[in-house]
Amino acid sequence: MLKFYLLIWLALASSSIYQPEQIHLSWTEHENEMRVTWITYLQLDSSVKYRPLLCSNILSDWLTVPSSIQGFNAGEIIYRLQYIYTSVIPNLRPDCFYEYYITNPMAQSKVYMFSGRTPNSSLPNKDSQNLLSMIIYGDLGIGKNSKHVKNRLSQEIKIRSFLGILHIGDIAYDMDQDDGMVGDRFLNSVQDIAANFAYMVTPGNHEIRHNMTHYRTRFKMPLNDANNGTNWFYSFNLGAAHFIIINTELYIYDHPEQILTQFNWLKQDLEYANKNRDTWPWIFVLTHHPLYCSLMTVAQCTHEAELLRSSLEDLWYEYAVDIMFEAHNHYYERCTPIYKNAPIKSEYDDFNTHYNANATLYIITGNGGNNEGHNDPVPEVWQEWTLFMTEEYGYGKLEVFNKTHMRWIQYGAVSGREIDHVWLIKDRTRFN
Ligand SMILES: *[C@@H]1O[C@H](CO)[C@@H](O)[C@H](O)[C@H]1NC(C)=O
Ligand SMILES: *[C@@H]1O[C@H](CO)[C@@H](O)[C@H](O)[C@H]1NC(C)=O
Ligand SMILES: *[C@@H]1O[C@H](CO)[C@@H](O)[C@H](O)[C@H]1NC(C)=O
Ligand SMILES: *[C@@H]1O[C@H](CO)[C@@H](O)[C@H](O)[C@H]1NC(C)=O
Ligand SMILES: *[C@@H]1O[C@H](CO)[C@@H](O)[C@H](O)[C@H]1NC(C)=O
Repeated sequence: MLKFYLLIWLALASSSIYQPEQIHLSWTEHENEMRVTWITYLQLDSSVKYRPLLCSNILSDWLTVPSSIQGFNAGEIIYRLQYIYTSVIPNLRPDCFYEYYITNPMAQSKVYMFSGRTPNSSLPNKDSQNLLSMIIYGDLGIGKNSKHVKNRLSQEIKIRSFLGILHIGDIAYDMDQDDGMVGDRFLNSVQDIAANFAYMVTPGNHEIRHNMTHYRTRFKMPLNDANNGTNWFYSFNLGAAHFIIINTELYIYDHPEQILTQFNWLKQDLEYANKNRDTWPWIFVLTHHPLYCSLMTVAQCTHEAELLRSSLEDLWYEYAVDIMFEAHNHYYERCTPIYKNAPIKSEYDDFNTHYNANATLYIITGNGGNNEGHNDPVPEVWQEWTLFMTEEYGYGKLEVFNKTHMRWIQYGAVSGREIDHVWLIKDRTRFN
């Protein structure tokens, strides 16, 4: 009996069961909202305290939003129950920052901060005229290869040179491993980044176990009429751009019904986006698996890429998608605009510029820092439509300046320098 009490006492004394952890943010399907997600191992009545910062005409004391709780057994061999909480902070103003912390009867978190600029934010002088920067990478785990990007990002977050993050598949390697402890460690390892910036995701092949249970439960992405809470495909408007996030694993693992659901939604969403091109002239699609890549010795660049192209490429062409961002290959590859396996000339092209491009440009940024190392070597022979490749771990920054100018920069996280960039400039929309 004494031993039993000792155990209970030890458990309670260890803050790890009631301390909020794995804190991360995401945008919702509504404008002017931010969702906070976190866990504890003891079920506790928890809430988020927040207040606006650094904006005019508001002076506010701490406000409170309650949370909803979901129990989640993260384990398979061992039963590892954790409680996942989410709170939605409403009525954000795009000209404000917000600080917040999580509180429960036994603990509280550090104070974090985020920008009140969210999808569709209506800034006084129109959101689409303000620089929008997003960090994009894929294939980031918890091992030593992931340190480079995490270290650079933890510096970059201090400058706040971007608004949000898109992690385009392969998260943690894998979240379900070691009875979910790998997922827990990953979310804690990115907490300082993801608790301060919206951390938006799409699934990769490392998320597929048990119908992507870990992906679906740990992340909360915007809902729409078609995705039924799967978090697999969604879209949002930010700055002068429309972002579309889709799940290409459905094709690789052959789920015809779900492919159809996603495809129908995608077509509708592209129609909507094209109708609104005056406001959001740039259309970006993000996913995990590439439609074009140069490593012709592997399935992902041959028959898997062909499979995806046969379903999706004509949609991109018809609706004039500007860039498709992908990952999966553990390197960086920047292509020209491509259609039907051929490079397509723009009105003007040089190594770092495409002016009034005629087809979708493809970029693979799949070297966030996976657990397998440099196992996708840059091939000696590049395809006709490949302009730049490197194996250095890194991440990219998308900068949408306005309706006519955008730039993509790839940073090497080992060397800490810019290793590639490209400008897209346009003063007309294709096919309108
Ligand atoms: C953004 O605005 C568009 C056009 O008004 C609307 O259709 C869409 O649902 C809005 N999305 C969000 C996230 O508010
Ligand atoms: C996996 O999840 C999707 C979306 O909820 C569902 O349609 C499908 O039936 C599920 N598959 C299995 C095998 O449970
Ligand atoms: C939506 O999700 C719920 C819960 O996962 C499931 O019961 C329902 O069958 C799903 N509906 C459709 C249309 O897939
Ligand atoms: C691209 O667009 C330009 C300008 O409209 C046109 O002159 C050119 O023929 C097009 N090229 C291709 C390959 O479609
Ligand atoms: C758009 O942004 C580019 C790059 O910063 C700038 O050169 C250009 O003047 C801007 N155009 C407008 C209309 O503001």
